[in-house]
Parts: sequence; structure tokens; C-alpha cells
Amino acid sequence: MNHIEQVELAHQLLHAVETGGTALAESVFHNPVSDYVCADQAALEQEHLFHGHPQVMGLSGDVPEPGAFITNDFAGPPILIARDAQGEVKAFMNVCRHRGTRVAEGRGAAKNLFICPYHAWAYDLNGCLASIAQRRAFGEIDPAAHALARLPAVEKDGLIWVRASGDAPIDPEALLSGLAPEIADYGLAGYTHYETRVLRQPMNWKLVIDTFLETYHVPILHRATIAPLLHGNAATFRGYGPNLRMAVPRKTIGDLRGQPESEWNVLRHTAVVYVLFPNVALIWQGDHIETWRVYPAGNGTDESIMHVSLYTPEPPLTDKARRYWDKNMDLLMRTVQDEDFPLAAGMQRAFRSGAQQHIVFGRNEPALTHYHTAIRSALGLMAEAPRH
Ligand code: FES
Ligand SMILES: [Fe+2]
Repeated sequence: MNHIEQVELAHQLLHAVETGGTALAESVFHNPVSDYVCADQAALEQEHLFHGHPQVMGLSGDVPEPGAFITNDFAGPPILIARDAQGEVKAFMNVCRHRGTRVAEGRGAAKNLFICPYHAWAYDLNGCLASIAQRRAFGEIDPAAHALARLPAVEKDGLIWVRASGDAPIDPEALLSGLAPEIADYGLAGYTHYETRVLRQPMNWKLVIDTFLETYHVPILHRATIAPLLHGNAATFRGYGPNLRMAVPRKTIGDLRGQPESEWNVLRHTAVVYVLFPNVALIWQGDHIETWRVYPAGNGTDESIMHVSLYTPEPPLTDKARRYWDKNMDLLMRTVQDEDFPLAAGMQRAFRSGAQQHIVFGRNEPALTHYHTAIRSALGLMAEAPRH
């Protein structure tokens, strides 16, 4: 976000805090409960949002140097993302061409070769088959025909986009629908990966994203954790195609009043939630970035699995720095795992109770309405639930 936009945003946020106002949707939205429990919809989501749609699967700092890699088992096929010797990010199916074993697990740094743990077939950073143990036993095998299967991948402005199928090119600018310059201003390519945790939760994957899309609940549910840090009910909202941005003022935002606008560091006093459609929440936390990459798990409706990652503006070189970032990670986990998720798991069970056919998004929850409208539109579903 450039400085002119930051100042404009600060005026909106200061006004919202003063008047107790928050961004409003045009109308109340009735979201069908089936959105979270319908197996047919889950199958459509797999096809159109996970297999068929490019997703942000990491930041540049996840693969900082040639040979660094990450894996993703949740987006459909097992995926391996690596930086090659020329510094380009490539994505492959993480599937050995001998008998199908994963050639890499988790994440790691600086490999020249991916050596399959089963019989040691080795692949270079371009996915080419570099060596076969006991090669003669395989006759006239053509290495070129036994490379790791490639997937489309693009790195742009610090985001790594991958699609789990097909070979059509990925256009990040088109996907971000006008948000690209603002994302570029963060300089995400310079961020360092600090930590990633994998969480599995008994709730629909969209319910995880919903957690971040309104601040109506902050003063109530989070009164002991983040409510002292953030103003509830004073957020801005803007949609960018299917993506969105919601900015939330920190309690310190009033400090700006005593400073000339030209010196305002607005982002310092703001939390900014972006949804990078379809399944990623990227959150600016005042001095660092966190991402939530969320996927359906189990039967596709009632379970989800996610990567929660924290990225820092510079490498944490001292114990003091590490303690600071650990504290941030702990606060995040305490807030979401101990407060949001138990409620959301209860909601997921309640969706199966038959108590209601729809839930209600108030006008003060515009990001929820935007997100679910975008999902329904991408799946070709009716915009809103019939009311019962
Ligand atoms: S399955 Fe990979 S070397 Fe055999
Ligand atoms: Fe929350």
C-alpha cells in the first residue's frame, strides 16, 4: 500500500473509531448452511477452487535460495515446490516415477538433488531424472520420459502461485484483480520464513477463513487476548474481484493525530486482512506477515487442514528477536486455537442439526458476504439462500 493510500485509509479508520462506524454491506446476506456441509458443493470446490484454480502456496522466503523446497499435500496431488539453480521457482508432482513415493517431505534447504527414499532414484532441481540405482535392471529407460510431472508455477512480488493441474500459464495480476500494486508495495519478496504449523480442525475450510472476516466478535470473544490491541467494529472493507481487503485499526491509531500526515506510518497502527481467492488469508500484523493456507480434509465438508505461517521483515538473528516472534506466534495460536476454533467446531456440528437452513451475515460483516458471494459465483451456485 503506498503512502497516499495509507493516509486515506487512516482517515477512514480514525473516522470509524470516532463515530463507532464500520464498513457496511448493501444488505444482509443469508448464507445457506449447505455451504458448509454439502458433499456436492465440496466436490465442486475440489474441481474448481483447488484442482482448477491457481493458489498462493507460499512466499518467496519459503524457498529463499536454489535447492530450497516446500511440499504441499493438501491442495490435491502431492506437490513439490523448489527454487532451481537459476533462481526460478518450479512446481512438480511430488511423485517418484519409479513406484510413486514422495521424493521430498516437509520443507528444506539447499539440495542439488531430490533422492527418492525408497530406491534412490534421483531428480535434479528441474525435475529431470538424474540417476537410477542399478540402472541396467531397467533396460532402455528414457530419463526424459521419467521426469517429475511439472505443474504451472509463477513467483510474483513475493507470492508463489501454483495450480494443481493443467498447463495453462498463471497470471497473478489478473488473479489479484487490482490488488497487485498494493501487494507489491509490501515487498514480500524480502520477508523471511519464520515458522509454519500444520493444524487440522473439525470444521469446513471456509469456516476457518470466515474467522478472519469480521471484527464484530473481537470485543466479545477475544476480550482477554486481542481486544486490548484492536478496535472492534471499526473496520474498512474493499473487494477486488473475488479477493478482498479488510483493514482493522489498532488501539494505537490515535497516536497519528499528533504527527504530520507526511510522517504517518499507518501500517504500524493497522492489521490488514487480505483474502487471496480462494483459500488464503494473508494478514499484515503491523510489523510482520502471517498467512493461513486452508484446504478441505477428510470428507471435504467437516474437516480442514491448514498451513499457518509467520514471516518476518528481516532474518531473526538474535535470541531477543526470536523471543519476540515466538511471542507473536503464541498470541496468534492462543487467540485462534483456544478462542475461535472451539466455537467454529461447534458451529460445524450445529450446521448438521437441522436447526436452520441459512445463517445471517449482518451489514456490518461485508467481507463475509463478499467472500461467500465470490465462492458461490465461482462454483456457479445461486447467490443467496432462500429464506426459511
Ligand atoms: S519409488 Fe522412488 S525410487 Fe523407487
Ligand atoms: Fe477471531
